[in-house]
Amino acid sequence: MPRFAHVTGWGMAVPHKVLTNFDLAKIVETNNEWIVDRTGIHERRIAEDGETTASLATDAALKALDMANLDPSKVDLVIVSTSSPEHIFPATACLVQDRIGARKAGAFDLSAACTGFIYALNLAAQVIRTGNVDNVLVIGAETLSRLVNWKDRSTCILFGDGAGAFVLQATNVPGGVLSAVMRSDGSGGDLLSLPAGGSRFPTSAATIAQGQHYIHMNGREVFRFATRVMAQATQEAVIKANLQMEDVHLIIPHQANQRIIEAAVRQLDFPMEQVVVNIGSYGNTSTASIPIAACEAIQKGQLKSGDRVVFVGFGAGLTWGAAVVQWSGPILARRRRLPRSYRAWARMLSFLNRVTRFIEGIIWGRWLR
Ligand code: UT7
Repeated sequence: MPRFAHVTGWGMAVPHKVLTNFDLAKIVETNNEWIVDRTGIHERRIAEDGETTASLATDAALKALDMANLDPSKVDLVIVSTSSPEHIFPATACLVQDRIGARKAGAFDLSAACTGFIYALNLAAQVIRTGNVDNVLVIGAETLSRLVNWKDRSTCILFGDGAGAFVLQATNVPGGVLSAVMRSDGSGGDLLSLPAGGSRFPTSAATIAQGQHYIHMNGREVFRFATRVMAQATQEAVIKANLQMEDVHLIIPHQANQRIIEAAVRQLDFPMEQVVVNIGSYGNTSTASIPIAACEAIQKGQLKSGDRVVFVGFGAGLTWGAAVVQWSGPILARRRRLPRSYRAWARMLSFLNRVTRFIEGIIWGRWLR
């Protein structure tokens, strides 16, 4: 029997703190008119103390699981796409796995910058199709506000924090993720990077003095690259799904710059009313922008069960890609549990795991001596 990977749950989480263009104008030399005109951004959300990539990812994941009526113990795999992980290791996905109590799940982070959610969606669909797993949690989560230089007006005005999550489940009903394309061009890696803090330039007094621990970007070059690849990737994914652009109900692009989105849509000759744009409220939340925009589109009734939607993005790497999805919706009909009860259960489970490891350590320690 062929297997299909359907999106059966979705959820988003953004910090409460709003930073407007007017607030930014008090920090760096900029103004509301310039930011709105050049990017379409009016405000963005910024993580406060206690809010992290994992906490936002966990909040979004629990909402998605709740929507799918899926018990966390049934999740087989957790993929967190992020460019602002909590640590180099352990993976942020493992922290999320523990916090949601997905005790039978594998977990890993995926690093493909703003394109990461599309890569993760595609990988999740592929492992479901092979019959290897049934339920995958795909999360895009960022706190890029912690990595931008708040003195650099060319980058700090762009980014915002947030997370979005999809639950993908296996069924025999045709639909779900229909196709995807994933591309990269490492020759443009220097155009958008965070140079230090990895193994090549470990954090040192010198890297900090040079500001190498912040995001560096050649905005104009990234802009040029983005307008070229967005339309191209969309068309490739649509052809791969054996469809034509007329069969597409909605495009949900990565929210990096309203002008980039409009330029891509013009090249596709696609109606702008069928394109989801929410950059005005959140700025560029990198890999979280597509699932956040999808959640809002569902809320507004723009994305409905049966619709064919294209997700398309680009980002550092350079990377770009697109996926065509026939939208599904929750498929199971069980009593829904509140995310709060998942959380309490996961905390207890995590505590028990720590105690068990401690006791095992004593027993094995004695035996090995
Ligand atoms: O997820 C992927 C992430 N990255 C992107 O998507 C970035 C893609 N690039 C862009 O979105 C745009 O290139 C930016 C929004 C970053 C910049 O817009 P632009 O129209 O390409 O501006 P620019 O860099 O060509 O700069 C134009 C002028 C410059 O002044 P001069 O040299 O012409 O006098 C800048 O210094 O605008 C100035 N400028 C600003 N002015 C007010 C740059 N940033 C600002 C600012 N406020 N925040």
